[in-house]
Amino acid sequence: MRFSMFLFTACLAGSLTGQAQDVPKKQAEFKPGDVWLDTKGEVINAHGGGLLYDKGTYYWFGEKRGQSASEGVNVYSSKDLYNWKPEGMALAKSTDPGSEIAANGLMERPKVIYNPKTKKYVMWFHLELPGQGYNAARAGVAVSDKVTGPYTYQKSFRPNGHMSRDMTLYVDDDGSAYHVYSARDNYDLRLVKLTDDYLSATTQDTLLFSNHREAPALFKKDGQYFLITSGCTGWAPNRASLHTATSLFGPWKLVGDPMKGPMADKTFDGQSTYIQPVQGKKDAFIFIADRWNPKDLKDSRYLWLPISFTNNQPVVEWTDAWTTGVWKK
Ligand code: GAL
Repeated sequence: MRFSMFLFTACLAGSLTGQAQDVPKKQAEFKPGDVWLDTKGEVINAHGGGLLYDKGTYYWFGEKRGQSASEGVNVYSSKDLYNWKPEGMALAKSTDPGSEIAANGLMERPKVIYNPKTKKYVMWFHLELPGQGYNAARAGVAVSDKVTGPYTYQKSFRPNGHMSRDMTLYVDDDGSAYHVYSARDNYDLRLVKLTDDYLSATTQDTLLFSNHREAPALFKKDGQYFLITSGCTGWAPNRASLHTATSLFGPWKLVGDPMKGPMADKTFDGQSTYIQPVQGKKDAFIFIADRWNPKDLKDSRYLWLPISFTNNQPVVEWTDAWTTGVWKK
């Protein structure tokens, strides 16, 4: 009786104040490292992710993680970059035990690009085959007619025979797309041009540098390419580095660490995954990193930070809370 009385009072209080009980409040800023909730109040589960801006909406694709399991690829949508609506799983694990994407394998660092010629959305990711740990080192490809999926798994391979682990995709101004990937047991960072349909690798495949780097995140400003990478220490954070080039095929020049301020030497306890241009703002790019929690991977946090420029070189500085208002134009 006392229990139901309490419930009644609680419901009444909720309705009197006009507040929905389980809808989280609208987000109006980024809080790097906090727990980020989606528009339904669930913790966002999209790690090692990447964004795609498509017809006025941003889509965030990322690894769905259990405590340690890799459970497929989640997708969220947002108009403002702060409030993310869950759109379900873009690519789920296959229930066919013979599939390359069956349970017990890994799908990491998914990235999606749109091909205007074929009108298909194309997802690439780092695939590890079921039961083989990190030994397969392959690129996986999936396709959909709809941005949120479900994506249909196509195939996996090693580009031109090279191992392929941490990766990103990049579409240049002329519509050519590229896969940037850690090869040769992560000692080499390579770049390969994709075929016109974005589904395969061409033989235009080059070594960028051999510095034992991973977690590549790439962007372009004023004809200059900027590539931020991490070192190779598993889930543990390390120092980031920045390379620049005027051609994707190099030469790439090592500039140094673009992170600035306290904890910069460990990328603020994070690891790069993507750099997203902000629509409608000039020279506005968001540096996106994961703060991994290897004891509970789904609880890994998101570090989104604004990129500023000093002498035309990108700088990423820690801030506890910020908005896209940091860019005036
Ligand atoms: C990191 C890599 C992650 C994940 C992890 C596993 O170096 O960037 O994506 O593969 O290793 O230990």
